[in-house]
Amino acid sequence: MKLAFQHKYSAPKDSKGDSLGRVDGKPAKTQEGMAPGQSPAPTVGTPYVDNPRVICRNVNVHYNEKHALREVSLDIANHQVIAMIGPSGCGKSTFIRCLNRMNDTIEGCRVTGDILLDDQNIYAKQVDVVPLRAQVGMVFQKPNPFPKSIYDNVAYGPKIHGLAGNRAELDEIVETSLQKAGLWAEVKDRLTHSGTSLSGGQQQRLCIARTIAVGPEVILMDEPCSALDPIATGKIEELIDELRRQYTIVIVTHSMQQAARVSQRTAYFHLGDLIEVGKTEQIFTTPRHRLTQDYITGRFG
Ligand SMILES: Nc1ncnc2c1ncn2[C@@H]1O[C@H](COP(=O)(O)OP(=O)(O)O)[C@@H](O)[C@H]1O
Ligand SMILES: [Mg+2]
Repeated sequence: MKLAFQHKYSAPKDSKGDSLGRVDGKPAKTQEGMAPGQSPAPTVGTPYVDNPRVICRNVNVHYNEKHALREVSLDIANHQVIAMIGPSGCGKSTFIRCLNRMNDTIEGCRVTGDILLDDQNIYAKQVDVVPLRAQVGMVFQKPNPFPKSIYDNVAYGPKIHGLAGNRAELDEIVETSLQKAGLWAEVKDRLTHSGTSLSGGQQQRLCIARTIAVGPEVILMDEPCSALDPIATGKIEELIDELRRQYTIVIVTHSMQQAARVSQRTAYFHLGDLIEVGKTEQIFTTPRHRLTQDYITGRFG
């Protein structure tokens, strides 16, 4: 389904932008589409990278009249974990749902701007969202295994997408996916048991296996550990670090410690604006924007 066209966002020589996130002297954001008196904050830091896997430009999201995300421009680098942080309601979930068009399923939700995955605009008319959502998989806050066996939870996607020619191939996909999700050793002797019989942490790894089984390139995770205990959380965090060798990962987290532990880049959102983006260490040690600083020092959140 790949379209061959040279996108207009080929990285300019200095694609990192200046300290205000401006490239080529142009502001990273425009006023277009803004309600009067509500100018979007310019993004500070380094929203652009040299070889982006995903390119977002001037992304706006409305839920009916509500302007939930304003002029977000950001690149997502290959084989990296980027963490989305910020106070509740700032638009983190809204943003990651743009990346696999999950917002399409919400009535009254309107997305504008450009989002390119490997140079293809995912909002182009000819794009089929079913393979797109396999390419850009999603893991949710609450583990949500299907009320089916462990085996069938993982086999479901590959069956639908016709990825296995026979039972042996399907078995192979199920095993590899469970291995990549760090769950195989714990479940290999009870593949016929219900997915819901597993512990919370195991269920979340099962959901990760289910996502992996359809061969994604990007994995979106929306607060994947917020329903888990510290030990289960630790296992998922280790897993995320493993997975980035093969996948590009976007994780929303309300835990700054988690963002610091698992991500290489961090994006700070505030009231629908992308305030600052930078290397994780820099964001947590020397944030450039006062709002980021206020958040990471616990002044609000
Ligand atoms: N389905 C929806 N319908 C209407 N408004 C929504 C919906 N989802 C989110 N919003 C609004 O959009 C804003 C951003 O929400 P969200 O992306 O969920 O924030 P976060 O994930 O950072 O907590 C909030 O003001 C929220 O109330
Ligand atoms: Mg959220």
